[in-house]
Amino acid sequence: RFKQYNDSFGHPAGDEALRLVAQVLRANVRTGDLVARYGGEEFSAILPNAIPGEAMVVAERIREACAAQEFPHRDVTLSIGIAHNSHGSPGAMVESADRALYAAKHRGRNQVAAEATVLLDHFIVVNREDQEFNLLPEGWTLEETKSLGIDRLSEIAEGAIPEAAKPLIRALTAMLDLRDRDTERHSDRVTRFAMRLAKQAVVRKTAIFTQNDFCDLHLGALLHDIGKAGVPDAILQKPEALSSEEWAIMRQHPVRGAELLADMPPLSSAVPIVRSHHERWDGMGYPRGLSGTSIPIEGRIAAVADVFDALCSERPYKPAWPMQSAYAEIVRCSGTHFDPACVAAFQLKWSEISALVTVAINKAA
Ligand SMILES: [Fe+2]
Ligand SMILES: [Fe+2]
Repeated sequence: RFKQYNDSFGHPAGDEALRLVAQVLRANVRTGDLVARYGGEEFSAILPNAIPGEAMVVAERIREACAAQEFPHRDVTLSIGIAHNSHGSPGAMVESADRALYAAKHRGRNQVAAEATVLLDHFIVVNREDQEFNLLPEGWTLEETKSLGIDRLSEIAEGAIPEAAKPLIRALTAMLDLRDRDTERHSDRVTRFAMRLAKQAVVRKTAIFTQNDFCDLHLGALLHDIGKAGVPDAILQKPEALSSEEWAIMRQHPVRGAELLADMPPLSSAVPIVRSHHERWDGMGYPRGLSGTSIPIEGRIAAVADVFDALCSERPYKPAWPMQSAYAEIVRCSGTHFDPACVAAFQLKWSEISALVTVAINKAA
């Protein structure tokens, strides 16, 4: 039916309706839940650590809120399918939610349905017409992701970068290192931290990452600061605090970087991280002031990794912080600067992350 909405009122009206639905979803999930657009008129919501039955309550709340929401042209209702994580892999969960969704539609739309009624700790909201839609890209099951060591995971992510693009990536990162000696190896460490955080988030089921997502995260973290190539030395190397004009130029680097990579197909999958690594959970970041789960999960992960490494490193304007102080700062900023789920992953991975920092300090000495 959504196709009819577009056909009757035009695509801009359809887009506006989707935005309103997304707002309803975000307003009615719990702190720490993830909401994402799956494609077309489909959305998914993930409720980590929900108690039994809670997903049903949240789904009903969303259904009611959407039915009560005013839309400019015609009422919009949601059909919602629920699945729980005993289905195993993310793919099996989505399939189960999908079958429940069809049952909900069959019963007359504007309904919530679940295949099973126990332990409803995850759910997927979908409102779709197209049966052919490919639900999840190729990926690993949760068990496979858990069993893959971080080195193997990184090796696979690295291996996914086309051979022809590798010299280009090396040249781009080397160029940045030349410009900014103080951030040398920064991108490399941010990548290592980010991959660990992502794996931990998947294992704790606070994020669903497909194989492709891991590859994009690896590439995005490597290139996250590439837009700094457009920031003049006088600003990049300035030992004093930046003036407001200088700050304005510095704050353009996520957009500059995204523009640079957007037209390079092998590297364009890095764009979400490049663009969003300075957004903040509380909406006070830049360039777009996005907040909460409207920031791509890769960007939220990269933000923790990036700030932690920056704190531990010497910069023209500040000495390197002791590792424990940097750790305390990341934890302090959970829920303000950072996604609490990503900070939880950071704390759980602390022994591995601190070991990497120690190695880096010893190498530099
Ligand atoms: Fe940056
Ligand atoms: Fe950075």
